[in-house]
Amino acid sequence: MTVTAILSALSEEQQGLLAQLVQPEKLTRGGRDFWQGELHGRRVVLALSKIGKVAAATTATTLIEAFGVHRIVFTGVAGGVGPGVQVGDVVVASDFVQHDMNASPLFARYEVPLYGQTRFACDPALTALLMQAAKQALASMAPPFAMQGAQTKGRVHGGLIASGDQFVASAASARQLLADLRAAGHAPQAVEMEGAAVAQVCFDYGLPFAAVRTISDRADDSAHVDFPQFVNEVARHYALAIMDALVRSLPP
Ligand code: ADE
Repeated sequence: MTVTAILSALSEEQQGLLAQLVQPEKLTRGGRDFWQGELHGRRVVLALSKIGKVAAATTATTLIEAFGVHRIVFTGVAGGVGPGVQVGDVVVASDFVQHDMNASPLFARYEVPLYGQTRFACDPALTALLMQAAKQALASMAPPFAMQGAQTKGRVHGGLIASGDQFVASAASARQLLADLRAAGHAPQAVEMEGAAVAQVCFDYGLPFAAVRTISDRADDSAHVDFPQFVNEVARHYALAIMDALVRSLPP
């Protein structure tokens, strides 16, 4: 049976899935806990990426090498930087770029050395399922507590996500980062700290990869303010509802 890895950035986003896991079995490798079991009749491994590109690449590689997973789906939060990408929205990744990769003048800015490419694409079929799951989950959910004063329900976007080892927490740094990326032809919808690393590992091993991020902030001066509250009151409910819908839609 195909084994699907569900990689979460934060433990709050994993808790709901863990509570539903049938015949859970925990194994520890490289200081990380991996939970094997079944969700809706599908074999899964749940893991935490930890924070940043190196940590996420290590977790992804272990999932592949030690647990033999066949595909990886990532769920986490991100800063919204695309036009109209608001807190409480969701971005499903089409592909990833590392905004802090710069080996110029040896290689073009943002190009990953020795790969001859800058962007790493997500798997189109798995991404289509994830997009469908995100739309279904958001449509069926009551607005979580923190969103109840919001004018609109969260919307689902698709597009490029930029990853780097930096929590983008000022409007000035977000502006600079975006201007530099756009000058090189990359227009991300969101910024986060892990996705591009997992995309690169999946590229190396030829594994399908898809990723979804709930927008927790606008990567500006107030990006950090309500972060823990947002994760608890919004992101963990979104992550559970989206992953639940996705797993149900996977072939058994
Ligand atoms: N994850 C959530 N918000 C983020 C931000 N502003 N920068 C980087 N990663 C994030």
